[in-house]
Amino acid sequence: MIELIRVTREYRKGRGIHDISLRVGKGDWVVIVGHAGAGKSTLLRTVYAEHRPDSGEVIVGDYRLSSMNDRKIPKMRRLLGIVDQELALVQDRTVYQNVALVGEVLGWSRNKTRAASLRVLNRVGLYNHLDAYPSQLSFGEQRRLAIARALVGDPFALIMDEPLGHLDQETALGIVDLLASIHARGTAMLLATHRVELFGENPIRVHTLERGHLTLARNAEENA
Ligand SMILES: Nc1ncnc2c1ncn2[C@@H]1O[C@H](COP(=O)(O)OP(=O)(O)O)[C@@H](O)[C@H]1O
Ligand SMILES: [Mg+2]
Repeated sequence: MIELIRVTREYRKGRGIHDISLRVGKGDWVVIVGHAGAGKSTLLRTVYAEHRPDSGEVIVGDYRLSSMNDRKIPKMRRLLGIVDQELALVQDRTVYQNVALVGEVLGWSRNKTRAASLRVLNRVGLYNHLDAYPSQLSFGEQRRLAIARALVGDPFALIMDEPLGHLDQETALGIVDLLASIHARGTAMLLATHRVELFGENPIRVHTLERGHLTLARNAEENA
């Protein structure tokens, strides 16, 4: 479970997020919608402890982030599959190696790393690109690779910032389908986007963020 309780995180001049309460439980698919500068990335970064709240509490599993020791951050993040807007792919490693790196960091055996990496690369549709380098992939494929890497450790939730940014409509809809298949297999979702219309009929819960304030929640049925 992910829960934000009255979370405020401000930069100078009052920018940031203010008094946000939000819960992402098992089976939830939450989409944060808002214009550029609304605070979407700030909210997501607060969840994965890229920075700490100024006030309020963020709970991820059994971890309470406001008072947590920095040493615990890596362990807490294993509950989350994190895809930053920048993707942060390792350019001099192949598709396979980008994903297998996670298993190496976690100290998995070669066999376990290989099996988990191939399984997740198959799920995202990159099985035929194992030896390609990130720069040889399309933007959509690069995003699939970042998703594969986030999923290899089987996290409770996928947290993704602008999953559809800078993609043409067809490619974006392909990513939406992939996200739906990941959600259908039990991974909770917390996404930030300004292109909510592309999520169509999927069972998303939409929260609108305006100048740092969460102003509205609605369910998929009300999107139409
Ligand atoms: N590191 C930072 N230092 C100062 N201001 C920031 C920083 N990051 C974001 N902001 C400001 O906080 C607000 C929210 O930014 P952000 O969370 O990136 O919004 P979004 O992701 O919705 O575009 C914006 O006004 C932005 O300029
Ligand atoms: Mg952003």
